[in-house]
Amino acid sequence: MADSPRHPFLHGLSKHRGAPPTVVVIFGASGDLTARKLIPAVYNLSHDNLLPADFFLVGYGRKPIPDEEFRTLAAAAIKEFSRREPDAGVWDRIAAHTSYVAGGYDERAAFDRLAAHIDAIEKRLGREVQRLFYISTPPSVFAPIVLNLGASGLAAKHPGRPHHSKVIIEKPFGRDLASARALNETIRSVFAEHQVFRIDHYLGKETVQDLLVQRFANAIFEPLWNRNFIDSVQITVAEEAGVGSRGGYYEQSGCLRDMIQNHMMQLVALTAMEPPVSLEAEAVRDEKVKVLKAISPLTIGPEGNVARAQYAGGMIGGKTVKGYVDEEGIAAQSATETYAAIRLSINNWRWQGVPFYLRSGKRMARRVSEIAINFKCPPGTLFAEGGRFDLAANTLSFQIQPDEGLSLILNTKIPGLETRTQPVKMSFRYATTFGSNTPEAYERLVLDAMIGDGTLFIRGDEAETSWKLYTPVLDYWRSVGREGLDTYAAGSWGPASSDALLAKRNHAWRQP
Ligand code: BG6
Repeated sequence: MADSPRHPFLHGLSKHRGAPPTVVVIFGASGDLTARKLIPAVYNLSHDNLLPADFFLVGYGRKPIPDEEFRTLAAAAIKEFSRREPDAGVWDRIAAHTSYVAGGYDERAAFDRLAAHIDAIEKRLGREVQRLFYISTPPSVFAPIVLNLGASGLAAKHPGRPHHSKVIIEKPFGRDLASARALNETIRSVFAEHQVFRIDHYLGKETVQDLLVQRFANAIFEPLWNRNFIDSVQITVAEEAGVGSRGGYYEQSGCLRDMIQNHMMQLVALTAMEPPVSLEAEAVRDEKVKVLKAISPLTIGPEGNVARAQYAGGMIGGKTVKGYVDEEGIAAQSATETYAAIRLSINNWRWQGVPFYLRSGKRMARRVSEIAINFKCPPGTLFAEGGRFDLAANTLSFQIQPDEGLSLILNTKIPGLETRTQPVKMSFRYATTFGSNTPEAYERLVLDAMIGDGTLFIRGDEAETSWKLYTPVLDYWRSVGREGLDTYAAGSWGPASSDALLAKRNHAWRQP
């Protein structure tokens, strides 16, 4: 497959940043994420010459797998999931440095074997390499892995070499405030915060990073980016897919934990934050935390600012699909929400009085994620027809996926002898301008962690602040079971209670 021209982000990276010699150890090496995302990410980084020359990949998992078989599995994963057709030369370079260690996650002796394995790599190479531990396992073993990394000396903090070992932790980072705090404590007992990279793959998306560029690299937005000009913000992350075979996981999670507490709060923070003093990790993350801290507590119950629902059967793309409770692994009386809508109030100088509406759901009409900034209407006196004011509000919308891009709705004169107006959409599409073969989120994130740049990762206090907001809602929902749980037809845009949430403030969801 012919590659499109190199993306400017990558171009910049390759010129300015280089990762030191590294061994990446993936815990959960035979898992789905490893095959779908992590191995293809490593492959594409190698293809773009962004891996250090001395790069080693070690799979770690409970299942005994010979090295050769692990390499075969990795090659198959690249063939199936990489955004590029595999190139034998590129893969051979990685394969020569790919191996596997079998062991339990709470088995101390197995971590000693892993340490010996890495020592042997260093001995052959004749130099030390940084260790990047990628924890891509079920959350129940996050803590044992971290503790064993500490106990075996693998996580040792070497004086003068602050980035010698690092850990990437997959989601979910806790399931409420107490569990997130406990996990942070365990991690901090072994690693310093700058060694910890909590993943939120939304931060690796090009369009999400572009939010900062649009906001702070263009002079025209920032002066308007506040309560004086903005009426409301709507953030939608809609999925067409249902829970599929992940019913067991989803029953323990639900939409609020799965999408809103993490991914969508990142979108809120990037949309609402103040300009950071630099793009250094701490500067950006400090500003994001300030936004999260400024959000007023959510009010729950019938008059609150939260709605939740579960999908019933319906039609998507001309096909009949099951309701949630009829999916595999779901209890008939399940109270798990597959959709949630929230109205957030950010109580600070910039945003007071501007509602931030969030909605996310599975089995919705269409897969689309966007951030829509709705500006206040201009005074309509000049263009009121027969006393009727019908100018559209200007809306700036960041299309996160699919059809990545940006659009702006403007009122325009309809050609003709009368002065009549019509809203028109001005659009920029990534694919048209830059080609469609852009890096996957995990490429950027794995590279950043290797380099030690935490800007696109969640800091511990950020995770806790977000859980602090949502834990009372989760507790309340648990206490009331199915009471107040609305339904929506699969293939629709969500439940009536979500529309009602906006109608209370004379707003309505826009059609993305
Ligand atoms: C994951 C959730 O974090 O994000 C999934 O666990 C969800 O339920 C997925 O489908 C959505 O990611 P994306 O990148 O497809 O929007």
